[in-house]
Amino acid sequence: MKLTVVGGGSTYTPELIDGFARLRDSLPVSELVLVDPAADRLELVGGLAQRIFAKQGHPGRVVTTSNLDEGIEGADAVLLQLRVGGQAARNQDETWPLECGCVGQETTGAGGLAKALRTVPVVLDIAERVRQTNPDAWIIDFTNPVGIVTRALLSQGHKAVGLCNVAIGFQRRFAKFLGVAPEEVALDHVGLNHLTWERGVTVNGENVLPKLLANHAAELADDLHLPAELLLQLGVVPSYYLRYFYAHDEVVRELLEKPSRAAEVAKIEKELLDLYADPTLDEKPALLERRGGAYYSEAAVALASSLLNDTGDVQVVNTLNNGALPFLPDDAVIEVPATVGAAGTTPLPIAPLEPLYAGLVANVTAYENLALEAALKGGAERVFNALLAHPLIGQIEYANALTDKLLAHNREYLPWA
Ligand code: G6P
Ligand code: MN
Repeated sequence: MKLTVVGGGSTYTPELIDGFARLRDSLPVSELVLVDPAADRLELVGGLAQRIFAKQGHPGRVVTTSNLDEGIEGADAVLLQLRVGGQAARNQDETWPLECGCVGQETTGAGGLAKALRTVPVVLDIAERVRQTNPDAWIIDFTNPVGIVTRALLSQGHKAVGLCNVAIGFQRRFAKFLGVAPEEVALDHVGLNHLTWERGVTVNGENVLPKLLANHAAELADDLHLPAELLLQLGVVPSYYLRYFYAHDEVVRELLEKPSRAAEVAKIEKELLDLYADPTLDEKPALLERRGGAYYSEAAVALASSLLNDTGDVQVVNTLNNGALPFLPDDAVIEVPATVGAAGTTPLPIAPLEPLYAGLVANVTAYENLALEAALKGGAERVFNALLAHPLIGQIEYANALTDKLLAHNREYLPWA
């Protein structure tokens, strides 16, 4: 089995490699190709990847290349984890929206739109090249904003599934609280990427969420920086991205007072790359835990394994709605539990979504649709429309100012701007 990771020079990659090495029985990779335009990073990350495989006695080989077409040749699955413009562009996304009093974030709000506009054309170009060389290959997208990027891929008929680690993070957290194995915990996880709620947590056929909340609301609320009373009152666990909605102004005040996450990550990355350069390092360093990608490798291995081995098990993925949430268009991309096999992903039936969540989901879905239009066709008007539709923006004054800022900061990536 040959797997290709586009953006393989990311400092996250050792997390993925560690998962491939540990979980090789479910996903026997004979060749892992790391593709990245940044040759210097690729050398450091590729070197460590080879040492991790060697230490764990993995029989597969790790290959690095900056040539995309060479890298995807013959791949069974292609994982996308790229970041157009790197942390420098992310730093912009997290900064200029704050000038309008709007949240500065890499996937939510105006910053997320900027990232989508930079990313969609690049990802579609890669996907097209994958389709030309390996029409049967699966594309697994971790590239943010995952909802919009996956929708872009599916709108062009690509064999793609979007993935995020929020659901697996909750599954592991709940399993620990309950003292059971993670596989025993099934989530009623519903919404859009980075806009989800856990409405139920099932172990052995019993919904244990009320019990979990009764015993652990304070710890969960602490993780999420949301009030414990809210979790108890709603009886659900929102993802921490909901804080950008439920506590928007508070978050803006906080962000104005501290360095951006991109700046923090840039520092961590520098330290990580120094560590990776040490030829005696042969495991993922603890410092990697300071990045946000916890359990990303487990989720990726599980998804690739189910798609390639046709297991038909249930995993939380980003997939076409196709009526699963009847108030959304069929071609919307939702993040829900789905069966996963060689034919793709099919959402499990979903209990009707309560108005408290459905309103926001419908609103953000409309925004994502307009964001995709802007990414595919360009034009300041389309950018404005997407911003006006976004529930965290929604006013002409802000949509106009943010359109100008977005375009000014991203011209080198947007040929039409
Ligand atoms: C979580 C999200 C990812 C996001 C990451 C950011 O894992 O699910 O979509 O990319 O956090 O982590 P970072 O360390 O880059 O801030
Ligand atoms: Mn994510």
